[in-house]
Amino acid sequence: MGAAGGRWARSARAVGVVAALGVGLAACSAAPAPAEPAEQRVEVFTWWASGSEKLALDALVRVFAEQHPQTRFVDAAVAGGAGSAAKDVLASRLANDDPPDTFQVHGGAELAEHVAAGRLTDLEDLFADLDLAADLPDAVLDAVSVDGVPYAVPSNLHRANVLWANPQVLADAGLDPAAGYATFDDWLAALATVQASGRTPLAVASTWTQVHLLEQVLLARLGPDGYTGLWDGGTDPGSLEVTAALADFARLIGYTNDDRDALDWQDAAQRVAAGQAAFTVMGDWAFPVLESAGEHPTWRPVPGTAGTFDLVVDAFTLPVGAPNPQTAEQWLRTVASTDAQVVFANAKGGLPATTAASTSDLGTYQREAHFAFRADAVVPSLAHGSAIGPAELAALTSAVGTFTRGEASVAQLQAALVEAAGG
Ligand code: GAL
Repeated sequence: MGAAGGRWARSARAVGVVAALGVGLAACSAAPAPAEPAEQRVEVFTWWASGSEKLALDALVRVFAEQHPQTRFVDAAVAGGAGSAAKDVLASRLANDDPPDTFQVHGGAELAEHVAAGRLTDLEDLFADLDLAADLPDAVLDAVSVDGVPYAVPSNLHRANVLWANPQVLADAGLDPAAGYATFDDWLAALATVQASGRTPLAVASTWTQVHLLEQVLLARLGPDGYTGLWDGGTDPGSLEVTAALADFARLIGYTNDDRDALDWQDAAQRVAAGQAAFTVMGDWAFPVLESAGEHPTWRPVPGTAGTFDLVVDAFTLPVGAPNPQTAEQWLRTVASTDAQVVFANAKGGLPATTAASTSDLGTYQREAHFAFRADAVVPSLAHGSAIGPAELAALTSAVGTFTRGEASVAQLQAALVEAAGG
């Protein structure tokens, strides 16, 4: 309320000044100058700060400007893939009672933690007014709700379990660029072949992308039910099957670039685009990066995960104490609109979250992902905040970093996984 109160006080003072001037000017029979309206602004907090993500946000902002021309968009983006830096900045802003008007959140456990801490206003009235629940697939409505109450408006969906490849690098290594890798082991064999050819088999980046990779190994080895069971108590994270999956993860890390900790996901994708690496595993926000690099990438589900859609839901909130709740609501209305959903998905590489968007408005990759989302088993992403809460994810991420630097054993990584999954 502080900032809004300040603005109101300022504009009330301005009206007073104009009124006083008006009295003086009335004597000269001139009309008083109208008071300047207080500036309307909406501060939007995301981590879409550069490259294709910034371009996608810009596209969303253009739709917002058409729908709400009187409100100025204020960009509070903090760079770093998957919110790796933004989430700490947001946490300290919220702790200091300095919330933005709206912030980006992942559906699932991350959202639930904000709700449990009392940081978010529920959006039941807005959802009712827009009849939004009727337009959201069940998995998406669940992800943005806590105990059946919606707390965030989804802007888009992403598929996390995608393997991107450079066909020329595969051909140069003597591999069939069109090979499908029916199993995870088939893919491990291909990675060994690329390594023998002298190129990097698998480009990876800083720790959160390594957690993203670990998630895919768990999904490939345990299947959708076994993987989901890790987070809801149905699967023992201390089992030998999980030990074997972690050993596979160690093998995969052995096929990656040594400078991974200095890179972010875009750099790893660029290595594939530039022909320095054969593969990268990344969510489908990598599509525009690879596509715009000219070299047309191929994509397939991560080997061993076909038939599963590893879901990431991006959404926007109304924080308790937002300085400008009215303009935040304008932003949320734009985010929910079909125009914004289509424009954003096509620019960013994922899918619209609402079913109101027609598939004929989507690009080729998006259409394929759309049909997979409808047909596949949907599971929550670990690395992108859906499966476990922020504190558990942060602890696991740190353990993964220690492991990939060679400073911890498989047993220690597994102990960290057991802890993160709920002890
Ligand atoms: C994810 C987010 C995506 C994309 C990605 C890389 O966590 O859901 O929209 O931004 O990080 O930054």
